[in-house]
Amino acid sequence: METKFKLKQSDKVVVLTGAGISAESGLKTFRDHDGLWENHRVERVATPEAFQSNPELVWKFYKQRYFQLPEVKPNPGHFALKKLEDYLEKNFFIITQNVDGLHYLVGNERVLEMHGSLRRSFCSKCKSKFKMEEIDLSPAIPVCEKCGGNIRPDIVWFGEMPYFLDEIDEILRKADYFLVVGTSGTVYPAAQFLNITKYNGAFTIGVNLEKPLNVDFIDEFHKGKSGEILPKLVDIWIGK
Ligand code: OAD
Ligand code: ZN
Repeated sequence: METKFKLKQSDKVVVLTGAGISAESGLKTFRDHDGLWENHRVERVATPEAFQSNPELVWKFYKQRYFQLPEVKPNPGHFALKKLEDYLEKNFFIITQNVDGLHYLVGNERVLEMHGSLRRSFCSKCKSKFKMEEIDLSPAIPVCEKCGGNIRPDIVWFGEMPYFLDEIDEILRKADYFLVVGTSGTVYPAAQFLNITKYNGAFTIGVNLEKPLNVDFIDEFHKGKSGEILPKLVDIWIGK
């Protein structure tokens, strides 16, 4: 494993993760062969319009993914990022496009779930928030106890505004190192974070099975599985 630098505890490191970091935990990515979008058309399950016109189908898709979670275990890639947060503490952030919650499960705390979470939902009418485990998931469309409205998964769908964008913008601008893991670089605004950090002077690192679309903005690219590469990189970076 070759890497061009070591980290000081005062270095500010920001990590962006995508579906690829959870692939070795057995979760499907979206755009790879046999990915989720191969079996489902995005516009039928991941847009507000889909929820308007066919909430049953949308719920079926997200319930399936939610019910899978208890069997899903974090992999060495997640644990490596926990080690990195333990070393850098407040100088560390994970921005994730994933909705599986695996970063929290290994104990990372400085995590921004910009696309929402499979483990949460909210009422489409009165906007009350719920943990998935708090609501009755047996009806085809779960109903809000407070107002009778349809509950929806707390997922940021296509055409909706990702969460934490102001916070993310601030974090990106301060980054000394920006690490991108397991994302195809096709979905905006996340795909643009590399350009932003690079133009702000950060050193950029990529870990991915295949070259992502925005690979030109990556200073140091590691091709392969994040569960194999990240633990080695982190140990070198923090001098273990
Ligand atoms: P994609 O499925 O688009 O990309 C996954 C990337 O991970 C690909 O580039 C793979 O080559 C790579 N990959 C696969 N296995 C890997 C492994 N073991 N180690 C490292 N890399 C691996 O997923 P995202 O980029 O996360 O949004 O997709 C972004 C957004 O599009 C998702 O958050 C989702 C989707 O539509 C919503 O649902 C709102
Ligand atoms: Zn309600």
